[in-house]
Amino acid sequence: MYAKVNSMGLFGLNAFPVDVEIEVSKGTPSFEIVGLGDIVVKESRERIRAALRSCSTQFPLARVIVNLAPADTKKTGSMHDLAIFSSLLLINGIIDDDLSRTVFIGEVALNGDVRSVNGVLPMTLTARKNGVERIFVPKSNAHEASVVDGIKVYGVDNVSELIAHFSGEKQIVPEGEYVVTEEERRYSGDFSDVRGQQTAKLALEYAAAGGHNVLMVGSPGSGKSMLAKRIPSILPEMTFEESIETTNIHSISGMISPEHPLVTTRPFRAPHHTISSAGLAGGGTIPRPGEISLAHNGVLFLDELPEFDRRTLEILRQPLEDKVVTVSRAAGTAEYPCSFILVAAMNPCPCGYYGHPTKKCICGEKAVHTYLSRISGPLLDRFDIHVEVAPLEYSTLRSDTPEESSESVRQRVQAARKRQNRRYEGTGITCNANITADKLNEFCPLTKEASDMLEKVFSSMGLSARAYDRILKVARTIADMEQCEVIGKNQIARAVQFRSLDRKYWSR
Ligand SMILES: Nc1ncnc2c1ncn2[C@@H]1O[C@H](COP(=O)(O)OP(=O)(O)OP(=O)(O)O)[C@@H](O)[C@H]1O
Ligand SMILES: [Mg+2]
Ligand SMILES: [Zn+2]
Repeated sequence: MYAKVNSMGLFGLNAFPVDVEIEVSKGTPSFEIVGLGDIVVKESRERIRAALRSCSTQFPLARVIVNLAPADTKKTGSMHDLAIFSSLLLINGIIDDDLSRTVFIGEVALNGDVRSVNGVLPMTLTARKNGVERIFVPKSNAHEASVVDGIKVYGVDNVSELIAHFSGEKQIVPEGEYVVTEEERRYSGDFSDVRGQQTAKLALEYAAAGGHNVLMVGSPGSGKSMLAKRIPSILPEMTFEESIETTNIHSISGMISPEHPLVTTRPFRAPHHTISSAGLAGGGTIPRPGEISLAHNGVLFLDELPEFDRRTLEILRQPLEDKVVTVSRAAGTAEYPCSFILVAAMNPCPCGYYGHPTKKCICGEKAVHTYLSRISGPLLDRFDIHVEVAPLEYSTLRSDTPEESSESVRQRVQAARKRQNRRYEGTGITCNANITADKLNEFCPLTKEASDMLEKVFSSMGLSARAYDRILKVARTIADMEQCEVIGKNQIARAVQFRSLDRKYWSR
């Protein structure tokens, strides 16, 4: 006897169909799973035998072979359990439905419970693309699968529910359509919580508007972490496509909660400075996404930047340019998107008070230098905007003038993004920060005065070519905020200002 049930496999972000073929023949009773499965797949046998017992269903007294096809693709994890289980139900005659457009995903526990698995969203998306009409998933993943429309999602808590469903005893009610609530789009902190810091706020507004990386330098307690945390709240609202992209990455990392199956707010990832290269960029035996990919479409915040391992930071350079990272391991190579705004914060010296107006820095000249030199020139150059976060005056802290809300800042950011989208339509450029070198002159026209000024600054400040590009892009963003197509002198001047910290701290 032969039967076939559909399952889905996953490698990196790529979901692929897996056929679970079962053949039952006469002979010494046995149960074998073949088809390049890992140890977890092999152990599936024991789970399924026990689960069948849990619902008093007979295991065939025969030679049972399950093949996972295609046989040349590695299968990992326990997500095929439910499909293997269902194939036995087909053999037993408990299921007599047409299963050609049905997929089963889920781990089966010894007591028959159906346990959640990672990556349900990318698997459901691919299933729908391949014409699948209904999908059975663990109940705790059902909300996540319901994000995909055009496919009926059945959440299963226990295998006995599945049996009851197919025997007609009790139908499982399919998941309702998923709707994003306003609540789910809200951020926990608001820009208006931060008092004063007008320059820093302006810098972050420009960063959000043009997708620029920012470095904040300031003494302890000046509000750097507080400001960084609030950047997602001034970024444009996530589009559905962006939500899906980010959710896919969070889904395969097992970071989706049943209550919030779709990532609807821009991620803010703040890894600790002890993080490994693999933790940051991705890795593991099965290549997993790292923090840079978890931050996709949002913000990656590196607090206390000089404390990070230098080699770990150098790894960032390529993904920052390419917006995608390739993670290679023995088990294969996976590609993960990683388009994020890099925000870093640091003190100006080990004690934190170098350049402070009232407190005295106790670090020696050499200690300050060693500290700062942990940030390499090329990495420093990757921050389009450098901003000093000044210590807060007592009067500002106590003042009761209301601060501008994130929503209000976001309106301007969104308008500037709209201008950019119109300008870059069909070019593949997504925002000013991503203008390619060959398009820089075309998209950043300068007035005569602006061009003269930039020339002067270039030679007097000894700018690197990369720093020059960055200034031009930030000036492009400032002009966009002010609805100017041609960049003026004033806008160049402000962009230059946001690149002057490296001279203050790093050129000594
Ligand atoms: N501008 C501000 N408005 C309101 N509260 C502030 C402001 N700046 C700092 N604070 C208060 O001080 C606390 C410390 O700020 P925060 O952690 O952001 O400082 P930091 O610059 O990151 O310091 P460190 O260098 O020590 O990390 C905040 O939690 C907040 O309560
Ligand atoms: Mg901090
Ligand atoms: Zn110091």
